[in-house]
Amino acid sequence: ATGLEAELVINSEFMSLDCVDRMVLSINGKVPGPTLRAQPGELVQITVHNMMASQSVSIHFHGQYQNNTPWQDGAATFSGCPIPAQTSWTYSFHANPDPGTYQYHSHVGGTSVGGVGGVLVIEGAVSAATAAIDGEHVLHLFDWWHAPQEEILSGLMSTQFRWPGDPQSVLINGRGSFDCHHNSMYTCNITANASCSDGKGPIAPANLRPWYRPDYQPPQCDASACPDLEVFEVSMNGTYLLRLIGATSLSFLNVAVEGHNLTIVETDGHPTAPLNVSSVDINSGQRLGVLIHAIQQPSTYVIRAQIRGRSGVRVAHALLRYTGSPTVTVDPVGVQIPQPAWHDNEFTFQQQNALRGTQSMPVPATEQVVRRFEILNTQERLEGRNFNGKPSVDSIKAAIGLESGDRPENNCVSANNTRLLRWFLGRRTFFHSTTPVLSKLYFNQGVDELTEDNSYYQVEVGKVYDIVIQNYPACNGVCETHSFHMHGMPFWVLGTFRGEFNGSAEQVAAFNLVDPPMRDSIMTPSEGVNNVPEIRAGCGYVVIRFKPIGPGAWPFHCHQLLHAAPMGSIVVFHTGREGLPPPPSNLLVCGDMNLQTIMNRLEE
Ligand code: C2O
Repeated sequence: ATGLEAELVINSEFMSLDCVDRMVLSINGKVPGPTLRAQPGELVQITVHNMMASQSVSIHFHGQYQNNTPWQDGAATFSGCPIPAQTSWTYSFHANPDPGTYQYHSHVGGTSVGGVGGVLVIEGAVSAATAAIDGEHVLHLFDWWHAPQEEILSGLMSTQFRWPGDPQSVLINGRGSFDCHHNSMYTCNITANASCSDGKGPIAPANLRPWYRPDYQPPQCDASACPDLEVFEVSMNGTYLLRLIGATSLSFLNVAVEGHNLTIVETDGHPTAPLNVSSVDINSGQRLGVLIHAIQQPSTYVIRAQIRGRSGVRVAHALLRYTGSPTVTVDPVGVQIPQPAWHDNEFTFQQQNALRGTQSMPVPATEQVVRRFEILNTQERLEGRNFNGKPSVDSIKAAIGLESGDRPENNCVSANNTRLLRWFLGRRTFFHSTTPVLSKLYFNQGVDELTEDNSYYQVEVGKVYDIVIQNYPACNGVCETHSFHMHGMPFWVLGTFRGEFNGSAEQVAAFNLVDPPMRDSIMTPSEGVNNVPEIRAGCGYVVIRFKPIGPGAWPFHCHQLLHAAPMGSIVVFHTGREGLPPPPSNLLVCGDMNLQTIMNRLEE
């Protein structure tokens, strides 16, 4: 077999994904791009044609191990250089060895926020539970702003820090529905939302960008141009696999199907013990394989995906239609489906802890753990930047890479915690490094920048590590859930816990070493957000165990992408220079990479 070959043509064009005409970044003329299907372990060759006028792009195959092909990971500035505008480039790697549900998306700036993403399926049954299904459907779950992605990114990265607010729509397979006449869902709260500030003070409502005005009614909104809802056909008495793809840039979702329970059988490409639920939580970066049994009255049922963890709830709908049932016009908006309240984080906590793995890859024993990384996940204001229009200081930044025990003062006034400042200064190096990390390592140039103070951690292939991600309130007191994704390898989830980790024997004994589920993206526990005082207090921590499969520079970051590169919630685990395979012959060069050194290397 020659393997999977595909071409992805990336372009910018105007489309109406949610009844509102907007410039989007499409793949082969669509958002999302095509669902790619590979056989386990086969050679995958994906040629990307970047037709955009001036924007570079990359494709990260999210969840693929890239064993011995770290250069193909598509994480621009880490594994390689982005693909320049008006240029083509071919990714080449072997698919993961086992069946499962994956995704792909651009890993440059705001391009994935603008639409560059899709689904990757490694075909075959992930476990016995899925061996006898009657069919499958893919649900790519995405969130969508009417502000252009460049504006969102610039707002997050500028000294005037502007938060883009909640998305205007949620999309299922690129289809959403914005209500052209009623925008009651989101208005700009001047005191609570940075997007209402210009850094000097509150912006008068009349001067707000249109999408933040209380009376926002997009002129490009055309209710007759709304896409039809996606319809998934099932046959009476059949069992179907729904592949749910958490492709959002910010939103944490709950998905439910009217009149049907669901059985979770897969987390991020790994089998789970079947778990029966009434609805599923899925955060950015995560994928779930879910079985549904078509055993109700033949009819058309509503599928509902709702934003959680934020009170500005947006909803997306799709339909589940029993083949041959009478065609009825369903108004999905009025259909009530039991789903947890937006701030019911106990639901999330319970569901995350109820998932059990099948020991498809046995968890390494605690005695093998060579180092435990303790990471503090918070948001602070730093260094004379402005936020919320308060005359004071300091923009908010998501911070990981702090050792547990270094607690910011948590007053939203200043970061006079020296370690925090040192972290932030280090992070500047992180972003100002123009040579991709992998090339730095391989060509032994500028490796002295790859220090732990700069958020680069060296690990070894085959050794075992733990990470405790301690969630910590942001400086405004809010403890928000985040979704952390590891490149290049999966991890075992040893548990999600309330409170603060202190390393006591008792806490360590509570780790699940019997049947931890395997994932590559995991949520931190939280108490919800949006100024509900009674749910602010608690936070919690999640413990994961990982074992690098192959050499590389593997980012570990918040997959709520607005928190990642633009706000700094990202670190890199790298394996050093030893054992790094040579770069591909089509290696892209950028930044201060020394072309001659590279040519010499390639000739050796
Ligand atoms: Cu899908 Cu670095 O992420």
